[in-house]
Amino acid sequence: MSQNQLIVALDVENLEAANKLVTMLSDTVKWFKIGKQLFTAVGPASVKLLHESKKNIFLDLKFHDIPNTVAGAVASATKIGANIINIHASGGLEMMRVAAEVAEKQASELDIPMPILLGVTLLTSIDEENFHRDFGTQRKLADQVAYLAELSQKAGLDGVVASPLEIELIRKVCGDDFVIVTPGVRPAWAASNDQQRVMTPAEAIAAGADYIVVGRPITASDSPPEAARTILQEIHA
Ligand code: C5P
Repeated sequence: MSQNQLIVALDVENLEAANKLVTMLSDTVKWFKIGKQLFTAVGPASVKLLHESKKNIFLDLKFHDIPNTVAGAVASATKIGANIINIHASGGLEMMRVAAEVAEKQASELDIPMPILLGVTLLTSIDEENFHRDFGTQRKLADQVAYLAELSQKAGLDGVVASPLEIELIRKVCGDDFVIVTPGVRPAWAASNDQQRVMTPAEAIAAGADYIVVGRPITASDSPPEAARTILQEIHA
């Protein structure tokens, strides 16, 4: 695990709070994730803040709409300089295919690096029981994750967002040349909050995650820099 594999989720409500965390974590963290809360509140100003701080950006807006609308959103996300963009794989093959095409076209027209495009399989807050109940299916959760990961790959995406518990399965289906980003990561000393399918950061990296996303165990801790450093040390150990 290097600093390059830790992505901190900036799930905060305004730019001041984001700036405070980014400044505090400046020496420890290279990647930040902007999600729906911050982006809905302040928009591209949040991306600009991270650019100015020379940080990499995961724009976690989990697009899910008709192909034409998602294509427009992915083009905009590429244009403002997101380094990772994600899309719900359950939006379908066509939607993901168009997204991959448009990102490539936009990046080459603007002569900027191609963003990493990820499919979201199943949210890590969903467990087997909720999956059966809420999706009205008896299909195994793992089968659904494997299916959506394969579909993402077929559509030309670079990887998926998935629970750490599914890394082994996804590697089996999609191979090593496929990016796996895992939220649902909890150090042994942190609360699990609403995450159901969790592993520790060290376990997730050992299992083959390319990046781990950690939010509240760092951002809600008394000392975010210390929490981030502890996580990096635990992984090295
Ligand atoms: O605070 P916590 O560590 O639970 O934050 C995890 C972050 O990862 C949140 O921003 C959440 O939206 C995001 N995420 C997730 N599960 C996914 C995709 C993204 O928890 N499948």
